[in-house]
Amino acid sequence: MEKTVAIVTGASQGIGRSTAVRLAKDFSVVVLAARNGELLNEVAAEVRAVAAEPWPCSLDLSETGSPKQLIDGTLERFGKINAILNIAGAVPQIDLFQMSDDQWMKGTELKLHGARRLTLHAWEALKASKGSVVFISGSAALAPKPASAAVATINAAIIALAKAFSEQGIKDGVQVNSVVPGAVMTGRRRSFLEHWALKQNLSLEEAMKRFPEEAGIERYGQREEVAGLMAYLLSPEAHWLTGASVRMDGGEIKGV
Ligand SMILES: NC(=O)c1ccc[n+]([C@@H]2O[C@H](COP(=O)([O-])OP(=O)(O)OC[C@H]3O[C@@H](n4cnc5c(N)ncnc54)[C@H](OP(=O)(O)O)[C@@H]3O)[C@@H](O)[C@H]2O)c1
Repeated sequence: MEKTVAIVTGASQGIGRSTAVRLAKDFSVVVLAARNGELLNEVAAEVRAVAAEPWPCSLDLSETGSPKQLIDGTLERFGKINAILNIAGAVPQIDLFQMSDDQWMKGTELKLHGARRLTLHAWEALKASKGSVVFISGSAALAPKPASAAVATINAAIIALAKAFSEQGIKDGVQVNSVVPGAVMTGRRRSFLEHWALKQNLSLEEAMKRFPEEAGIERYGQREEVAGLMAYLLSPEAHWLTGASVRMDGGEIKGV
């Protein structure tokens, strides 16, 4: 069987971790990128258990040189790249009127520029393999609020960035899409809810229950559900699906 290589960023936790383990069914190599080496080793064991080869790479993708280092290392080791999953993100969820320039820069540097740099450095390899890229955005992009202005703004920029890459991808044979999840239960969502509970003067338990009601959804999404969508977007059945922004939010966004 021909070797196929997927790179997953944010692979140590949450949606990225579930995506890495899910992709181990479809790719022979899964490169795991995030900062926490210990957690990456745990994920590597899960990937190996599904019978794919993991390569855990501990790096900070907000540093300018890291994306190139990750791509060069992958090509040196495996000689090709078939898919890039840009999932790493840690945009501070701070009110528009309280957020500092530094906090804006940090959020943008990782989620937007880290993903942009990684995709640019991988482009020639993706052209050669007729590969795929998926960017993760988020439904805040479609309903910006002062409390989540940075997340909304950066996620909207991600959708635009993915679309721009996809236009070039039509010429170069590279498929590019973005995924727009709503409220998915991860460590990041839990810390958002802790913060929200304090602001609403609720216990965490009450806030966990209240949030979906206020968002107009029946429940939180599971990270495995988003991982399944990622896997579908990389599957042969979805190969004509490009330049799309695919929303998975339990119906939270009420417009069409
Ligand atoms: N959960 C949701 O409800 C939701 C909704 C919409 C969109 N999203 C998006 O989905 C993505 C994943 O979110 P999640 O909820 O799964 O978050 P999470 O559980 O906090 O995971 C975030 C991942 O990003 C990695 N990361 C953070 N800073 C990094 C850095 N400087 N360099 C490299 N990796 C870094 C983390 O690993 P290390 O700490 O080990 O570096 C971790 O693996 C994010 O982009 C988020 O905006 C999430």
